[in-house]
Amino acid sequence: MELIDGKAVAAQIKQEIAAEVAQMLKEGKKQPHLAAILVGHDGGSETYVAAKVKACAECGFKSTLIRFEADITEEQLLEQVDKLNKDNDVDGFIVQLPLPKHINEQHVIEAIDYRKDVDGFHPINVGRLNIGLPCFVSATPNGIVELLRRYNIETSSKKCVVLGRSNIVGKPMATLMMQKANPGDCTVTVCHSHTKNIKEECLGADIIVAALGKPGFVTADMVKDGAVIIDVGTTRVPDATKKSGFRLSGDVCFETVAPKCSYITPVPGGVGPMTICSLMRNTLLAGKKAIYK
Ligand code: GUN
Repeated sequence: MELIDGKAVAAQIKQEIAAEVAQMLKEGKKQPHLAAILVGHDGGSETYVAAKVKACAECGFKSTLIRFEADITEEQLLEQVDKLNKDNDVDGFIVQLPLPKHINEQHVIEAIDYRKDVDGFHPINVGRLNIGLPCFVSATPNGIVELLRRYNIETSSKKCVVLGRSNIVGKPMATLMMQKANPGDCTVTVCHSHTKNIKEECLGADIIVAALGKPGFVTADMVKDGAVIIDVGTTRVPDATKKSGFRLSGDVCFETVAPKCSYITPVPGGVGPMTICSLMRNTLLAGKKAIYK
């Protein structure tokens, strides 16, 4: 069994990006600039956005954090999105989700100029991904594909089971794994809360991507020998021994599943660090106008 070290790969990629940015600046090009809108004070969102701002510094990007209280109206938020759409210094921006309940997330996502949508959530980017055109790809699935690439994990003709059908992870993950590409070329099955015989589906899989948000869901009896296991779960579970009062739990029962695998991602230190790294890769592409002019 080989552990997939997402933390090390992410550090390596950030170094590669920083070197490229240094070269761009030397050539008199503009410094890539990511802006992030954070609404309210959700603990998870605060942590993620702080990590994104820190990663920008590591990559040599300019970053701008725009904060609003949770009582901002949808109209006010849409005005801010419009300002960023029009700001020529901003190459890409994100609106951290979830948003307060009185704001329609889909309205906000669709208001973002798709050419600056480095999260890859806009329907134009999602649609382009589906038909295999260049686009901004959602960070978590993009990070997973990059891990498979850097570990030279064979995916062609393999059976891949994706657990979960979210717009951010499950659906784009399935799309990427079935893409005519390397990594890709898998036969993909997507399982969700209404799937019967999940255990049998998983037992047939060469690659399992677990993105359900259910701690320990994938157990050893669901995994065939030699499978590749990618664990996207990051559920906060109470843990009195931690300073924060919680620890992150994956969707895979690591202790019992790991001995059966060819490769497995740990939680933390697997997929998580790659997600922010993928946002940085998208920001670099936005800064270079590499996808959209
Ligand atoms: N909330 C959880 N994941 C993400 C993400 O990738 N982007 C944004 N904007 N919000 C999130």
